[in-house]
Amino acid sequence: MTTEDFDWDQFYTATRHRQPREIFTEGLAYVPDHLPREAIEVGFGAGNEVIKLLELQWQVMAIDAEEHAAEILRSRVADQSRLMIVVSRYEDVTFQECSFVHAGFSLPFCQPAVFPQVWSSLTKSIRSDGIFCGQLFGVEDAWKNNVKMNFHSKPQVEKLLENFDIIKLDETKGRQKSATGGEKYWHFFNIIAKKH
Ligand SMILES: C[S@@+](CC[C@H](N)C(=O)[O-])C[C@H]1O[C@@H](n2cnc3c(N)ncnc32)[C@H](O)[C@@H]1O
Repeated sequence: MTTEDFDWDQFYTATRHRQPREIFTEGLAYVPDHLPREAIEVGFGAGNEVIKLLELQWQVMAIDAEEHAAEILRSRVADQSRLMIVVSRYEDVTFQECSFVHAGFSLPFCQPAVFPQVWSSLTKSIRSDGIFCGQLFGVEDAWKNNVKMNFHSKPQVEKLLENFDIIKLDETKGRQKSATGGEKYWHFFNIIAKKH
């Protein structure tokens, strides 16, 4: 059984050799030097961003509901002393205090009924001056009728970020290829925000 009926295995195969996402690299640069190097990776997938964080000597709590994702990540990391892998749905996780959260195309797959609680506890775990970066889906996305996913308008995203200074909030709309080769209409927000 896969999370919310998506076949993630195909996605992991297609993405496991890609570079860390741009929003991740950009967001990470905004973490001030005085904060502890402790990060949460939300829905880590093939683990590319987790591996980069470990290379940079961060302590990482890496969360994904799929055991296969955890197997891939374990096989890719020789020294796991700074890595805590949590195989769980977001809503069942107690997020650790951290200085950086990356959620790359992962939070939209959270059930709408639990998303507010997940967002609240995830963002509470970020220290003052810490960074959130990642994507949320917009209301025009081709998957908008999937009742197991969450979608937001720009004002709703701004409201979600009320406890942050917004560094980047870019909106993307249009037909584009997906990681596994198909094409769909995408509507998402690229977000970098600094916690008050
Ligand atoms: C589109 S992939 C993104 C993976 C990676 N962050 C990236 O940018 O390539 C979404 C990931 O989130 C995980 N996921 C989806 N819904 C989840 C949930 N409710 N709880 C935990 N993980 C979830 C999936 O298993 C999948 O690995």
